[in-house]
Amino acid sequence: MDRPIGMFDSGFGGLTVARAVIDLLPAEHVVYIGDTGRYPYGSRPQDEVRGFALEIAWSLVQDHDAKAIVVACNTASAAALEELRAQLPVPVIDVVEPGAAALVRTTESGRVGVIGTVGTIASGAYDRAVAATGEMVSLTAIACPGFVEFVERGQTSGDEVHILAERLLAPVQAADVDALLLGCTHYPYLARVIADVMGANVTLVSSADETAFAARSELDRLGLLRLSGDEAAEHRFLSSGDITWFADLGGRLLGPELRDAERWHPIH
Ligand code: DGL
Repeated sequence: MDRPIGMFDSGFGGLTVARAVIDLLPAEHVVYIGDTGRYPYGSRPQDEVRGFALEIAWSLVQDHDAKAIVVACNTASAAALEELRAQLPVPVIDVVEPGAAALVRTTESGRVGVIGTVGTIASGAYDRAVAATGEMVSLTAIACPGFVEFVERGQTSGDEVHILAERLLAPVQAADVDALLLGCTHYPYLARVIADVMGANVTLVSSADETAFAARSELDRLGLLRLSGDEAAEHRFLSSGDITWFADLGGRLLGPELRDAERWHPIH
């Protein structure tokens, strides 16, 4: 199955999921769209994010012949998953369900936390996804406005981000959680700061790996996996913003597969 896996995010955050997909499925072609021209999604109304998500996903299917879509963005998953699954002619893998499943598996105390964008937390998607696991846990969900902006600037450490993290994470610390889900794909880039603030007794859970496992099992189930052949896997990265910045920061964040970025033009 030579067609690529299509992935998207508002910007650089989905590269955490792309890294996991590339590592776990090295034979797969990947096309990634980072909507940096319209980021951030987290502070936008759900309807608007839904429109962006549908536009990008359709572009991945129609322009790039994607065989499956990985929604590498919690905000877009929270706003648009149902519509994406209803409309698209290919399987759609999201980050919210795999993340929630990993979170409830990780906790021992039954007190868990999730942090995400304002849009994700306000949507209640994690409350529903955690409830759907059937596990009796107590969930503290809080928004962390500002984190994404630090990552998009390439500033993933230092005093400023540490001070912000101390302030934003106070409610999950007070809730005495033992597992914290990074419910925004940008946040793994701040994992060291977040871990430092939360302390050694809290396990951080990232949905990136879980999503890659979910993508592998879904593609396998549908007979869509690409078997490694002679031709090496191709990884393409597109951005609606500044492609020089996308290649530069994206290469630092993702690794050597991201050397060049191409321009993606939104219709709206
Ligand atoms: N990376 C995205 C997420 O997982 C959102 C970042 C943004 O606000 O644009 O929610």
